[in-house]
Amino acid sequence: MEWITTETYAEMSRKAANLFAATVILKPNAVLGLATGSTPIGTYDRLVEMYKAGDVDFSRVRTVNLDEYCGLDPANDQSYRWFMNHHLFHRINIEPSNTYVPNGLLEPERACAEYDQTIERLGGVDIQLLGIGLNGHIGFNEPHDSFDLGTHVIKLSDSTRAANARFFASIDEVPKAAITVGMRTIMQAKRIVLVANGPQKYEIVKRAFEGEVTPAVPASILQLHPNITVIYSKE
Ligand code: PGA
Repeated sequence: MEWITTETYAEMSRKAANLFAATVILKPNAVLGLATGSTPIGTYDRLVEMYKAGDVDFSRVRTVNLDEYCGLDPANDQSYRWFMNHHLFHRINIEPSNTYVPNGLLEPERACAEYDQTIERLGGVDIQLLGIGLNGHIGFNEPHDSFDLGTHVIKLSDSTRAANARFFASIDEVPKAAITVGMRTIMQAKRIVLVANGPQKYEIVKRAFEGEVTPAVPASILQLHPNITVIYSKE
């Protein structure tokens, strides 16, 4: 495992973006595994800058995202499809049909099976970007989910729904379930880059990478990945 500590969020984002840009430069049709959340936004901004400078061409790149709420229309500004379009896809020269986010409007079991087939058909993920939740979750893989799962449906806990309610008009509008790529699929990525920033994330990142490997801390299994870079920013 490679561990990088940076002083600033901008530096963390630049280092993560460099690894993704290098992957695309070496393999123009690379499959990028992408994540939502506030942490990766700077990484996406930096990739957009590199694209605008003419340094990276996304025309043949494929992307697969980690998760999506069940029941949300992709046009809903709380959907993860909307987030990705807004922060990255609409700002670079990627083919929309090459961007995959689980479909929250399909019957969930079917959406999961199709998503695993899609990842397999693309040849697997070359480089996976991950954030980490304060409880060690990855995507919507919450503590005590099994490590040995492909894409699956999870029922959102009351605390997760309450935490996310601030983004919705009322808690009743917060979806009750989500689709997430499982830890088994994530571990199959050829390379993983995990970004985390701020003092509030320090303890969980340490616990995930220096503590016991346990489903109680889903990110802890990443210790066993042969090619992982953790980029932690102090701010
Ligand atoms: P954050 O979310 O980047 O908004 O902190 C990370 C996560 O919960 O996976």
